[in-house]
Amino acid sequence: MDIKIFESADQAAQFTAEEMAKLLKEKPQCKLGIATGRTMNAVYHHLAYLHKSQQFDCSSAKAFALDEYIGLPENDENSYKHYLDFHLFGPMGFNSSNTYLPDVHHENLDLAGFEYEQLIKKAGGVDLQILGIGLNGHIALNEPGSAHDSRTRIVALSQKTRESNAPLFKGKEIPLTAMTMGIGTILEGKRLLLLATGTTKAKIIQQLVNGDVNSQVPASALKLHERALLVLDKEAASLLG
Ligand code: GLP
Repeated sequence: MDIKIFESADQAAQFTAEEMAKLLKEKPQCKLGIATGRTMNAVYHHLAYLHKSQQFDCSSAKAFALDEYIGLPENDENSYKHYLDFHLFGPMGFNSSNTYLPDVHHENLDLAGFEYEQLIKKAGGVDLQILGIGLNGHIALNEPGSAHDSRTRIVALSQKTRESNAPLFKGKEIPLTAMTMGIGTILEGKRLLLLATGTTKAKIIQQLVNGDVNSQVPASALKLHERALLVLDKEAASLLG
């Protein structure tokens, strides 16, 4: 796992956006794995700017979201679908038939997980997987204890994740479950880029970088991948020796 440290969160986000833009320009039919979360706001803001100033076409690229909450009405403003339509797919001009999220409105959710895996496979796999990290080390919504060969499935959100994401729900009840790509699914991406910024992430980044691969820190699975890059700002990297 390589590590890049930037002076500011904004520079780290800009670098991430540039990596995505480079791929979209070099390979217009690329497949992106897409993350949500507050850390990504700045990335998608930079990416939309690059798209506008450099005029590249995203209409034949495919995007696969990492995860989606279960139990929210379709297009609820707290759903990841809503977040991605608003921050990424709309501004970048993705073709809506090329954007995918786990189908949490399917009548058979186990089958929906399996079908999501098939969609990714049929598309030829993910070229660049963007990731954030939870305070407990989760990637997508693979909470501590998730197996490194786990696949797209229903998961229970940990108390820590619910507390951390609760402010985004502005007083509304946050779901108890979600559907997430598994760690095994994520590791099949050709390149992985995990972005973490700010002091709140410093402790888990220290555990990730200095610790062994272990299922209590799900992000440590990145160490099993040949092309995984950890992108940090100085604050998230502040406890690294
Ligand atoms: C959510 C997402 C994760 C993301 C994490 C970190 O739980 N499902 O993919 O990595 O939040 O979010 P934030 O960037 O808001 O700290």
